[in-house]
Amino acid sequence: MDFKYILEARDVTYSYEKKEGSPKSLSEVSLGIRPGIRTVILGANGAGKSTLFYHFNGVFRPKSGEVLYRGIPLCYDKEVLYQLREDISVVVQNPDEQIFSSTVEEDVAFGPMNQNLHPSIVEGRIADSLFKVGMEDYRYRPTTQLSFGQKKRVAIAGALAMEPKVLILDEPTAGLDPQMSQEVMEMVDRLCLGGTTVVISTHDVDLAYAWADEIHVLRHGRLIFSGVPEDFFSDKESVALSGLALPHTFSVNRSLEGIRGLPEAPYPRTNSQLLAKLSPPEARFGRIMIRGIGDGTPVPEDDGLTRGIYGFRTRRMFRDNGCRADIYFNAVEGCCLSAMQGRDTVLFCDEELVDVIAGRIRSVSEFGRIPEVVL
Ligand SMILES: Nc1ncnc2c1ncn2[C@@H]1O[C@H](COP(=O)(O)OP(=O)(O)OP(=O)(O)O)[C@@H](O)[C@H]1O
Ligand SMILES: [Mg+2]
Repeated sequence: MDFKYILEARDVTYSYEKKEGSPKSLSEVSLGIRPGIRTVILGANGAGKSTLFYHFNGVFRPKSGEVLYRGIPLCYDKEVLYQLREDISVVVQNPDEQIFSSTVEEDVAFGPMNQNLHPSIVEGRIADSLFKVGMEDYRYRPTTQLSFGQKKRVAIAGALAMEPKVLILDEPTAGLDPQMSQEVMEMVDRLCLGGTTVVISTHDVDLAYAWADEIHVLRHGRLIFSGVPEDFFSDKESVALSGLALPHTFSVNRSLEGIRGLPEAPYPRTNSQLLAKLSPPEARFGRIMIRGIGDGTPVPEDDGLTRGIYGFRTRRMFRDNGCRADIYFNAVEGCCLSAMQGRDTVLFCDEELVDVIAGRIRSVSEFGRIPEVVL
């Protein structure tokens, strides 16, 4: 079947109370999530983000309007919903609502066990997903003994273990420390590159601006914007009325127009894009060498260059072999910045990502000069 949106809300209205005329948490919300597009639902506290997400996996049923998956309206029959949730995983905002089992292992195993997978596949899924969220050492711990952020990571691991087609994360970085926030965002990024559609809700405007291809903004339960982030943030009044603020990079870019006379467009979303825009023609850049890590790749020798790592397999290889790395998190961006500071830099990444990552770095040239990329 042909469909434009993998998930769609059409005129969705919802109220938590049954009484006629009670306040609406969502009012006639219509939006579509395109497959493979990095989507953020942005909104201040109480805007309706979580309420909308509960509609996407059929936990809530709209009072009016409808929700469609792959172009077909959801059916609220128990069996059908069960199948739907194999395709669409929602990680709710509060992990205590999601974690029911007594140990971490049991909790992560719950989804794949119910998919009737072979025990060896379930085992692989548990180990992989715990590794991806950095919780492999906690596998046998009671879930009650975890901190908030650890519970959140286990909840995400539980969703990953299902290998869903659409992963919906409600405030995935809220309550996580800065490194873990970056790791979670890298994991999400890695999943997108692998073809999973990821939707995130947040009120973190910097995160939304740097990460999203498309944003949908909610305000008091109404959708007030759908489109590319810079179009929304250019409208100061809407941003203020929505209880949000301008992203840091967006503001810096705007001031540059005043200080340097640089046109606002194209809008840099990351530091490397911003630096490319600012770098003078005589700036001496280093090169970025991209090296793919596959299952049989020998452990790379240390040549003393600055090294970044990206991807699950690469991360695991570096950890298991005690290899040196200088840039552990957000390494595609970090390696770009390192080369822009004149250092030859090696970016190790999962083999199958070499071309997309090279493409991503080269696309920074839209903003100005970039370091040479060597494959
Ligand atoms: N269980 C509930 N009963 C009644 N009203 C609720 C309930 N949960 C949420 N609401 C109301 O619905 C509206 C939307 O809430 P929702 O939790 O969807 O917002 P949100 O955008 O996720 O906010 P936050 O950023 O704080 O997580 C709010 O006005 C809230 O007070
Ligand atoms: Mg919420």
